[in-house]
Amino acid sequence: MFYRIAQKFLFQTNPEWAHDFTMGSLRRTAHTPLSCFYSQNVPFAPVEFMGVQFPNPVGLAAGMDKDGEAIDAFAAMGFGHVEVGTVTPRPQPGNEIPRLFRLKPARAIINRMGFNNKGVDNLVANIKAANPGNCVIGVNIGKNKDTPLEEGKNDYLICMEKVYAVAGYIAVNISSPNTPGLRSLQYGEMLDDLLASLKTKQRELAEQHGKYVPVALKIAPDLSDEEIEQVAASLIRHEIDGVIATNTTLSREGVEHLPEHGETGGLSGAPLTARATVVIGKLAKALDGKLPIMGVGGIDSAQHAMEKMDVGAQMVQIYTGFIYNGPELIKSITEAFIKRK
Ligand SMILES: Cc1cc2nc3c(=O)[nH]c(=O)nc-3n(C[C@H](O)[C@H](O)[C@H](O)COP(=O)(O)O)c2cc1C
Repeated sequence: MFYRIAQKFLFQTNPEWAHDFTMGSLRRTAHTPLSCFYSQNVPFAPVEFMGVQFPNPVGLAAGMDKDGEAIDAFAAMGFGHVEVGTVTPRPQPGNEIPRLFRLKPARAIINRMGFNNKGVDNLVANIKAANPGNCVIGVNIGKNKDTPLEEGKNDYLICMEKVYAVAGYIAVNISSPNTPGLRSLQYGEMLDDLLASLKTKQRELAEQHGKYVPVALKIAPDLSDEEIEQVAASLIRHEIDGVIATNTTLSREGVEHLPEHGETGGLSGAPLTARATVVIGKLAKALDGKLPIMGVGGIDSAQHAMEKMDVGAQMVQIYTGFIYNGPELIKSITEAFIKRK
C-alpha cells in the first residue's frame, strides 16, 4: 500500500532522481522505526543454490544497489539475496545523463547507465558495515570502461580478490550492453580464457581464506541457440558454479510504438519476459543439471517467476518488476514457490 503511494509520486519525477532519492531514503531509514513503511515478513522458504543457503528464492538483481548502500533495507523487505554491483576496480561516473528511461505502458525500462559506481573498495566497506541477517549478499563484478578489452580480465580478477572475503557469491558480468566491447567476452577463446583465470583465482582464494565462494556467470538474452550451447559447454568445462540468465536486451520487440524505443541501451521488464524464459530453457537443456540457473528478466508476477522455474531456474531475481510492483512481489513469488513444492 505504501509503495503504491510512493510510486505515484516517484513516477512523476525524473527516473534517475527517483532512483537516487529512493536509495538515499532506504539507506537512511534501515534499522530505524521508519523502516516499517517497507519492511515485511516473507515466509521462510530455504533454497540451496551453488552450495549457499538462501532464506527464499527471490533476489534483487544487480544494478539497483551498485555501491551496496541500502543492503539492510532490501533485506528488511524480505529479499533472500541482494546482488550489489556491478562494481569496477576504480570508481567511474558512467555515461552521460539522461541514461535511464521509463516505458510505462510497456512496464519496461531502457538504461545505458554504464556501470556508474564508487569503486570496489567503497563497496567492500559498505558490505562490511551492513547487517542484513540471513539475506545473502552477492557481488556482481565488471571492468572499468577505460580498461582496454584485452586487459579486461585483470579488472575481474582484481574485483574478485577484493570482494572474496565479504561475498556470499560472485557474479561475473560480461553481458551489459553499456560498456563497449564487454559482450564480446561471452564468446570463444575470450570466454575460455576469462573462465580459466577466474577458476584459478577462485581456487587460490578459497585456500587462502579457508572458504569457498561460488562464482556465477551472467549472460545476455541476445545469444543465439548455438552461442548458448557454447557458453554452457564452457561453463561446464571450467567448473563454474552457476549461471545468471539474463541481462537486459538490445532488442526493441514489443516497444517499437513507444517514443523512447530509439534510446540506446538495454531493455528490461515485461518485453523481456518471454525471451529470458526461452534462454533459460535452452540453457537448462544444454547444462543438463550440471550447473544451477538463476532466472531473471521481466519477472512481473509470481506466475512469471514460476515459468522461469518450470523451464529450469532454481532461483529468481527481479529489478524492473520490482520498480513497477514494489516489495509485495517478493512475497507473492515466495508464496507461489512454497505452494509449488
Ligand atoms: C537501471 C538498470 C541498471 C542495471 N544495472 C546492471 C548492472 O550494473 N549489472 C548487471 O549485471 N545488470 C544490471 N541490470 C540488469 C538487471 O540486473 C537485470 O538482469 C535485467 O534488468 C533484467 O531483469 P528485469 O527485467 O527484472 O529488470 C540493470 C538493469 C536496470 C534496469
